[in-house]
Amino acid sequence: MSETNTPSLAAMRNLSPRRNTTSAETVDELVTEQLVHFGIDPATQHGRTLASLAGRLYEAGADMDALWRLTQQSIHNLDRSDRIAYFNAKKFLSFQTAKLLDSLQSPFRRSYQSLQLDDSTQTAKGPYAIFDNVTAVFSATPVIARTATYIYACAEWIEDAFKGKELLLEIYSRLLNPTSVSLANFIVDIEAGPYATEYFAWNFNSGMAAIDSVLSHVLGRDDILISSRNIYGGAHQLIHDWYAKPSNLSIGVETFSGYGADDFQQCWEQTKTKYADRLAAGRNAYVYLESPCNPHGYTLDVPAICRAAHDAGLRVILDATVGTPFLMQPLQRVDPRERPDFVIHSYTKDLSGAGSTIAGVVIGRNHDMFIPKGETADGVAWNETMFWNVYYVKGAFLNADTAFEVIQGMRTLGVRMLNKCINTEILARFFDAHPHIIVHCNALTDDENSPLREKLSFIGLPAPLFTIDVEGVPAEVFQRFFDSLEPMFAHMISLGQSNTIVSCPALTTHSELDEAALAASGIGPTTMRMAIGNEDPKDLIAHFIQAAKLAIEPHVPGFTALFLSPAEIDQLVHDCYLGTHRRYIESKASMAEHLG
Ligand SMILES: Cc1ncc(COP(=O)(O)O)c(C=O)c1O
Repeated sequence: MSETNTPSLAAMRNLSPRRNTTSAETVDELVTEQLVHFGIDPATQHGRTLASLAGRLYEAGADMDALWRLTQQSIHNLDRSDRIAYFNAKKFLSFQTAKLLDSLQSPFRRSYQSLQLDDSTQTAKGPYAIFDNVTAVFSATPVIARTATYIYACAEWIEDAFKGKELLLEIYSRLLNPTSVSLANFIVDIEAGPYATEYFAWNFNSGMAAIDSVLSHVLGRDDILISSRNIYGGAHQLIHDWYAKPSNLSIGVETFSGYGADDFQQCWEQTKTKYADRLAAGRNAYVYLESPCNPHGYTLDVPAICRAAHDAGLRVILDATVGTPFLMQPLQRVDPRERPDFVIHSYTKDLSGAGSTIAGVVIGRNHDMFIPKGETADGVAWNETMFWNVYYVKGAFLNADTAFEVIQGMRTLGVRMLNKCINTEILARFFDAHPHIIVHCNALTDDENSPLREKLSFIGLPAPLFTIDVEGVPAEVFQRFFDSLEPMFAHMISLGQSNTIVSCPALTTHSELDEAALAASGIGPTTMRMAIGNEDPKDLIAHFIQAAKLAIEPHVPGFTALFLSPAEIDQLVHDCYLGTHRRYIESKASMAEHLG
């Protein structure tokens, strides 16, 4: 018998209510111990039946363990049809196991009813959840587990659960919740793709909570943070006003402009000199990036910056919200040195997509995210992982209802994003054709950031976020123009919704920045940020032209005549739609590759 076929005593003991204290060596001993534990007389018919069932369950536990090991060993070498067969064979096993559990419900429920509890006790306790939840396993969407607490199995299992060694018992929804776990698995699969087994995610109740958690996870007093220039105003404020504050963590914050590894490297060299004392005293430096970044939607050369930072021994945090995994998958670089150590998303934006919920996530390597209590993996101790260091103690968890909503939104991410990216190119090119409108958008081939978009973004698509400045228009005329952009350009903050949003970053998302920081970020008082949605682009363009006629034309005669003509706009829309769809379909694997 090969090692993988030997029934594993450890796997069987793991099913025992005395898993940590048992001395049983055989199935029979485990069964006897279990009956004694629950006060069951093995000599009765009921005792014998229970014993028979329990014995088979212990053996099934050993088989499951062998199945797991065999699957791990063989899955990579199977062809696709065998993978399909493996999947469906196991899917059916899960139905058979659940069928057993469901069949157990009748005797289980009857035993409960036989307790004949008082009415007031019954109402206080509510329905006993296990009876009704078994079939919920087969709900076609993840179940919204709206509960604070969980029924647990027995004392030794819950003891393990508190050490993170028994994930079946979720203990308390602030720590783990099935709906939130389902979302975490979903985002890891999408973000890390072929490397998904190397990564783990924790969800948070906002993107800001995710950013704060990862910063508080890595940063210690007097550490140093090198940040890219254009980051979300809230993150800027958190870093500068909280982490850098001397009475808090007194973090030394340095900022680099530009998009490439050279820009980062130059900043790191200066930082090393400026903070030589801190570094000599053993303080650490970290890198914080946002790409594509607020408000211009520009792309950093994340792989090259990660490589340079890792060569210098620095860990990298990336806020990848704006691109979503549809546009960029920074964790799917073949060379791990080119991958950030932590990827953050605000689910609030395009991942959920409708602007109806607030949530965030941090994705990191398994061993940075979770190790059972007391254990060490790859030189990392359990209490250095994000779970125990931050998530477990801070409480910014994501509730089940919101997790469910994010999951539902993510299911349509690809179609929404493709459409938005096409709209972005159309609008950017439409604005750019007007001589008085300055466009900061890497969709334009002559934009300084265009080569990085081409190199790093899925089929070279632009992020659906950019800025424009309307020149030669007095401030109060600009304001009247801005105020007439509703309803096609929604007046609201945020980004990543199905509707197009226009805002003035200097007054809203980036109002936390002082004048110098605003100027360095390329944000003027009348800079308008466009977060492009899924509308018909011609509706957006028509409204923009009409609003300009209404508010600008009387003061700047001839302004509207400088827009593209209707026929040119039709042609632009046509070209962008067809061009992108052609690139999209050509980027997909061939049928032969699918079958191979
Ligand atoms: C790039 C980026 N990251 C993070 C956040 C913060 O996310 P949340 O609003 O979910 O806290 C935002 C919010 O606008 C953002 O634009």
